Amino acid sequence: MAAWDPSVYRRNAAYVPELGRPLLDLLAPRPGELVLDLGCGDGGLSIELAAGGAQVIGIDASPAMVAAARARGVTACVADARTLPFDAAFDAVLSNAVLHWIREADDVLVSVRRVLRPGGRFVGEFGGHGNVAAIVTALTAVLARRGIDAAAVNPWFCPTPDDYAARLERAGFRVREIALIPRPTPLPTGMRGWLETFAGRFFDALPPADRAKTMDETIALLRPALCDAHGRWTADYVRLRFAAVLDA
Ligand code: BEZ
Repeated sequence: MAAWDPSVYRRNAAYVPELGRPLLDLLAPRPGELVLDLGCGDGGLSIELAAGGAQVIGIDASPAMVAAARARGVTACVADARTLPFDAAFDAVLSNAVLHWIREADDVLVSVRRVLRPGGRFVGEFGGHGNVAAIVTALTAVLARRGIDAAAVNPWFCPTPDDYAARLERAGFRVREIALIPRPTPLPTGMRGWLETFAGRFFDALPPADRAKTMDETIALLRPALCDAHGRWTADYVRLRFAAVLDA
């Protein structure tokens, strides 16, 4: 994944932790429970969890994001979701807007299972099947014009509910609920801000001299579908939200 810059992320994507709040109700943490925030970013959701009385530890693969979370008072460390450095330690694991960045989904599930105590819950939300489909289609078209296969550089794993439920069960979880939730999402800094924040892998596949023009072409292709008459952009997010549990 590209190196995350917390200030750029906050400017372009502050809605990510805000729109993750429904997960707190789904998790229903009890006071004193120990919860792992998997992919805590700069700690926005960890702070809300802690405000409800849970003890929270955040992990993130980005040192800059972990530093930003710590600066807000969150207990956080740098770690890889596929190899979490804990054993049977947590009552619950929460993850918002992270799992679509890790193609080795089964490794993550084995790792999450290992850090949970018996009866532990795993609640999360990430990009599901069809997520940002228009954006992916536009990126595919502009890269194809330059002889590049976007599928080969697409970093995102966006499964169907059936696919992910089967993976959860194979990893030893019982699935309590799982569903796709279309969530058109207004973009505070437009499509350019979104592409700059999240779609770096596609543009990195190009020679530097071609990147600006390719971005302009992507935005032009998307304008009719995702930009309204007032110049307001909306991304075609589709979330996969789930709650799963281990046997006690
Ligand atoms: C998402 O949260 O679904 C997402 C964010 C950035 C890129 C792709 C998907």
